[in-house]
Amino acid sequence: MADLIPLAEIDPQLIEQLLDRAFEPERRQRTAYRIRDGVDWLPGLSFAALDEDGYLAGTIQVWPVALTDDDGRAHPMLLVGPVAVVPERQTEGFGKALMMAMLGALDARAPLPLVMIGDEAYYGRFFQFHAAPTQGWQVPGPVDPARLLVRCENPAVLPRRGMLGPWRG
Ligand SMILES: CC(C)(COP(=O)(O)OP(=O)(O)OC[C@H]1O[C@@H](n2cnc3c(N)ncnc32)[C@H](O)[C@@H]1OP(=O)(O)O)[C@@H](O)C(=O)NCCC(=O)NCCS
Repeated sequence: MADLIPLAEIDPQLIEQLLDRAFEPERRQRTAYRIRDGVDWLPGLSFAALDEDGYLAGTIQVWPVALTDDDGRAHPMLLVGPVAVVPERQTEGFGKALMMAMLGALDARAPLPLVMIGDEAYYGRFFQFHAAPTQGWQVPGPVDPARLLVRCENPAVLPRRGMLGPWRG
């Protein structure tokens, strides 16, 4: 079964190689990259999954972002992704293990909404991410609205409208 360790313990080159294998080469043009442009991933919430032989099988990264509402107020959020598992080890539980490690590391005393661009069929079914609350949100690039997902204990507190971008604290 997966061995979960902090992502900071992995050589950054290996992370890039894994992401190149899990996603198409144009991945750096993806809208998710623009949402967190210029910020670093959060070491306390980002993990690597190693397989039984100690090889890197998957990664998850989390970034500090904000939804800026129509009044210019920045609502802090956490952008989840990429979640990536090497093609030959997909559907063996590594993705779920990475998500569980991340969710388990969140500070329950200061819950922030989690946002991501992904399949609701996966992230909704297993992890309560939903597209409905984000339908008035904008992002800095093209996105299929059905893939802009949020997980929030109380969606009623989320701004209806706003622009997602990096956290400028
Ligand atoms: C999406 C991803 C992270 C899932 O991780 P994984 O280790 O392959 O999947 P898990 O073993 O955790 O979960 C398997 C279950 O999820 C389902 N599943 C996997 N990917 C799915 C998807 N895109 N949509 C719907 N269901 C999906 C499987 O059918 C399986 O269902 P079952 O338990 O009923 O058999 C992985 O497949 C991946 O890296 N894909 C390519 C990159 C990507 O698209 N990342 C997400 C966007 S950031």
